[in-house]
Amino acid sequence: MRVLVLGGSWFVGRVVVEDAVQRGHDVTVFNRGRSSGQLSASVRRVIGDREVVEDLERLAALGPWDVLVDVGGSIPAVVGRSAAVLAGAAERCVFVSTISAYRDWPHAPVSEESPLWEGDADADPGTRRWDPDAYGPLKVGCEIACRRAFGSDRLLLLRPHVVLGRYEYVGRLPWWLSRMQRGGHVLAPAPDRSIQPVDVRDVSSFLLDQVEQERSGVFNIAAPPGTATYGDMLRACMTAVADVASQPAELVWVDEQWLTAQGVVQWTGLPLWRNAAAPWHMNVDRAQAVGLRCRPLAETVGDTWDWLRSGGHPVDHERFRQHGIAADSEAAIIRRWRAHRGTR
Ligand SMILES: NC(=O)c1ccc[n+]([C@@H]2O[C@H](COP(=O)([O-])OP(=O)(O)OC[C@H]3O[C@@H](n4cnc5c(N)ncnc54)[C@H](OP(=O)(O)O)[C@@H]3O)[C@@H](O)[C@H]2O)c1
Repeated sequence: MRVLVLGGSWFVGRVVVEDAVQRGHDVTVFNRGRSSGQLSASVRRVIGDREVVEDLERLAALGPWDVLVDVGGSIPAVVGRSAAVLAGAAERCVFVSTISAYRDWPHAPVSEESPLWEGDADADPGTRRWDPDAYGPLKVGCEIACRRAFGSDRLLLLRPHVVLGRYEYVGRLPWWLSRMQRGGHVLAPAPDRSIQPVDVRDVSSFLLDQVEQERSGVFNIAAPPGTATYGDMLRACMTAVADVASQPAELVWVDEQWLTAQGVVQWTGLPLWRNAAAPWHMNVDRAQAVGLRCRPLAETVGDTWDWLRSGGHPVDHERFRQHGIAADSEAAIIRRWRAHRGTR
């Protein structure tokens, strides 16, 4: 197939490009060329800015493509413009949205039928800075903009939960792996909480499988509930780094209600910990019915560590620095926990 990827060089898009090349597709990527990665020589590379209409028109003239894959779009006006310019050059469109599109996440379970934030297909907040409160509504606007340009029959919308794996620039597993490498007493809540992060390679496989079958529709993507716990993830990180850790890591399990009162920023302070009713209740029956397969979380952790250990660097992103807590804050919380429990 002739596949056009808008972006394709940071994380999810990069894996989709690698995977599509391996499957023998004819791949074009369009980005500003700021973060090249190691692209296969067979990939046609078009440099341009998706915010510049002339660049998009120059791109459209290089078509046609069987599918346009917009992985990283997040501003409705920008996504809508590229979709409109490229709708005549690509048969179909895939847009990668997010679980944050659901209004009730993380406070209630979500399926594809759950209510979404209100979205505006023409919205442009002006800033390109990451804003967690604006993220979900803006992605909904992007979904509407893609539907407006391609129509539902030519559109595949994917709403992934947390994506982990090599090239991750958000900083979740990289922080946990480096924390376990430092070793010592590690603050750790919610050992039995079921979690559903999905490996970036499984997202890519699902996406390309559906593209090859010309499927349209909306699909949640996450590991099925009950396959791993938060404790499993932390132990997998400990195991992965064990041979290079400065000292052995020891998990100090703390009560999460108590921890919530200690001022640790949820979701980022201890990456992927959130004391909400349903942070990990994404229904993925629909995707499983058409072939979603998710590898064990320990494989994702191991692959991410292999990549980091072999000198892999994520692209520089503002979200990376928002993850983790300082060593002295963590130690102080553990001291307070032990005093609270009357243990040493
Ligand atoms: N991480 C998660 O846990 C998670 C969870 C749910 C959903 N998601 C979604 O998954 C997607 C992840 O995408 P990704 O960032 O990994 O995609 P990606 O396609 O690998 O990277 C983003 C691409 O956009 C290009 N780009 C940025 N601004 C551009 C511009 N103005 N013009 C042209 N190209 C531009 C970048 O290259 P240049 O800088 O060189 O231009 C880069 O190639 C996002 O949509 C996110 O919402 C992620």
